Amino acid sequence: MPRGRVLIVDDEANARTALSEILREEGFTTETAADGFKALGKIDDFQPEVILTDLKMPGLDGLGLMEKAKEAAPDAVVVVMTAYGTIGSAVDAVKRGAENYLTKPLDDAEALVAIVAKGIEKSRLLQETRRLRDRLRERNVFGHVVGEHESVKALLEMVQQVAPSRASVLIVGESGTGKELIAEAIHQNSPRANRPFIRLNCAALAETLLESELFGHERGAFTGAIGRREGRFKQADGGTLLLDEVSEIPPPLQVKLLRFLQTREFERVGGNETLKVDVRVIAATNRDLEDQIRAGRFREDLYYRLNVVTLTIPPLRDRASDIPGLASFFLRKYAQENGKRIEGFDDEAIDALLRYRWPGNVRELENAIERAVVLGNGPRIQRKHLPSNVVPSDVREGTPKVPGATIYELEKWAILETLEAVGGSTSRAATVLGISPRKIQYKLHEYQGGGERKSKVPEE
Ligand SMILES: Nc1ncnc2c1ncn2[C@@H]1O[C@H](COP(=O)(O)OP(=O)(O)OP(=O)(O)O)[C@@H](O)[C@H]1O
Ligand SMILES: [Mg+2]
Repeated sequence: MPRGRVLIVDDEANARTALSEILREEGFTTETAADGFKALGKIDDFQPEVILTDLKMPGLDGLGLMEKAKEAAPDAVVVVMTAYGTIGSAVDAVKRGAENYLTKPLDDAEALVAIVAKGIEKSRLLQETRRLRDRLRERNVFGHVVGEHESVKALLEMVQQVAPSRASVLIVGESGTGKELIAEAIHQNSPRANRPFIRLNCAALAETLLESELFGHERGAFTGAIGRREGRFKQADGGTLLLDEVSEIPPPLQVKLLRFLQTREFERVGGNETLKVDVRVIAATNRDLEDQIRAGRFREDLYYRLNVVTLTIPPLRDRASDIPGLASFFLRKYAQENGKRIEGFDDEAIDALLRYRWPGNVRELENAIERAVVLGNGPRIQRKHLPSNVVPSDVREGTPKVPGATIYELEKWAILETLEAVGGSTSRAATVLGISPRKIQYKLHEYQGGGERKSKVPEE
């Protein structure tokens, strides 16, 4: 494997050849140029990792080249060469961003190789960092937030505006609208992106547990507290803490949370050591907190601390134009997960997705698509692959036409639909249809046998 790409820039032909030979012998790939402009012309194709350049050259000199190369090859490392007695200019070049310098004429091939090898190493580190950063950006700067609707664009703009600061953010939206996704997007777009993103569901724990989960506890703070434990605030130090379902925090804890937001200080449960952390708090709720305040269940002062900025995520039914995009996104995701080749949806399926009200919002849509991918076997998702609540029963596959259908077909349809609507209970379906459970069972047996049987239906 080549040890790296070195671009040698010198107006003296002999120097170019000599340097090139030494470096090639050591396994580097080289390219040469007689001045700065010629060197720039080679950067795109050659992609040098180290630029080894003379300082004094006609046309564009070493410093000029260094300046211009920053754009064309941002991860390339520059090593300058300078004649004995002009070290000052080399030092100046290093101050302006050159990685190292060598003096000419070169009498120490080992030093040359060592300096170039180090330069390559440095450049590869820079390349790797950039790749990681780009990938992070791709993945997180709304990489997987799908949405073209004005309201979503405005929301993402807000995310970008609030992300850099530590201001508390309150995210409001119905269940499944993407509150957690947006909270993560804020974190990933903030300077805290490389620090922890911690989430705590405040509805899931009873008061004492919630307090210790948030603030940690000392050994023996309560029965079962065998050792000291750090809480989520401590874990999130330097990063972001998402308090999900924040409306469910009991009032005594609301006071403690308020104090934290005012001072960034807290104590572990059962302790008196005051801890200070740097945590950005994002709160999410699917309730109307102002209603909760009026009802005396949520502190108004805490509300104002939490909602320095409020982001409201509109329900999916109010941005129906995003449904096809989201559906395709989830289709790709689950087709890949399940190793299936499905290209898209047929018109009827899209139509059904657009008509539905989506009480469970994006999460419900995601689940519906996952299910359709699992059930589907053709190249396209059809209406019949969608959950029955999404597809209105009057347009469902197999709905018999009147006139046209036989009584047998109508009866079968009525029984199966009713059964599905009541969750599969034959006794409840029987009540609805006004027939006996036994008759339903008999009919089901018959349908499973396939086709119409002429056997006698038992008497009611
Ligand atoms: N705009 C979007 N683009 C892509 N995926 C989305 C979008 N909005 C939500 N999702 C996906 O939908 C699912 C539900 O989102 P999320 O968990 O963030 O919702 P939530 O508002 O926190 O829900 P809940 O109130 O139930 O906690 C997740 O899998 C999420 O990735
Ligand atoms: Mg959530």
